[in-house]
Amino acid sequence: FARGDAAGLHIAITAGPTREPLDPVRYISNHSSGKMGFALAQAAERRGARVTLIAGPVNLPTPAGVERVDVGSAQEMAQAAERAADSADIFIGAAAVADFRPDQAAEHKIKKEAGVDNASIALVKNPDIIAGISARKDRRPYTVGFAAETRDVARYAQDKLQRKNLDMIVANDVGRADIGFDSDSNQVLVIDRQQTRELPLALKSELAGQLLDLILQNKKQK
Ligand code: C5P
Repeated sequence: FARGDAAGLHIAITAGPTREPLDPVRYISNHSSGKMGFALAQAAERRGARVTLIAGPVNLPTPAGVERVDVGSAQEMAQAAERAADSADIFIGAAAVADFRPDQAAEHKIKKEAGVDNASIALVKNPDIIAGISARKDRRPYTVGFAAETRDVARYAQDKLQRKNLDMIVANDVGRADIGFDSDSNQVLVIDRQQTRELPLALKSELAGQLLDLILQNKKQK
C-alpha cells in the first residue's frame, strides 16, 4: 500500500476512555490509554486521509494534521461522533466507552455523613455510539469496532459484529498482561463478514498500518 492511498477519505476515530461524573470532583472511568486509536489516527493521516479524532481524557499528543475533538462523558463522545460520522467514509470505534453512567451527577461535591457506612450509585445505560452509527440508513460509514475480552475472544467478538451490525471488528484478549490496554503492543483477531484473521503480536503503530490495509481493502470490495 502506497502513501496517499487514503487520500480523499474522511476517517472518524473514537479513542480513550470516557468519564462519567458523580459530582464535580468524582467520576467513573476505565484504564483505556487511547494508544490504539491515536496510532490509527496518525497512520490514517499519513496515508492522506482527513482524520477526526474524538478523544476521551488521555495523556497523548495530537498526531500532526489530525483534527482532535476532546470529550469527557459517553454522551459528549456520542454527540461528537454523530457529527463526525455525517461526513465520514470510515468510522472506527476504538474508545472504551463506559457502558453505564451515574443516573444523577450531583451539582455539589457529595459529602460523607457521620454514621453512614454504606452507599450505592444508581446507574443508567449509556448510548451505544457505534451501534447507533452502524444502524444508519443514510450516511452510514464503513464501521469498525473493537472488542476487549478476557475469554472466548473470537466467539464474543463475532457476536458483537452481528449484534452491532459492524463491517469489521478487531478483538483482543485484555486478560493477558503483555498486550492490550496500556501496552505499546497488541495482538488481535480481525473479523469481518467473510473471514477471521489472526495478526501477529506487533507494536500498536505497526498494527495500525495493517488494520488500515485491511479496512481500505475491504471497503473497496464492498
Ligand atoms: O459492547 P462493547 O463495549 O464490548 O463493544 C465495544 C465496541 O463498541 C467498541 O468499538 C466501542 O468503541 C464501541 N462502543 C460504543 N459505545 C458504547 C459501548 C461500546 O461505541 N456505549
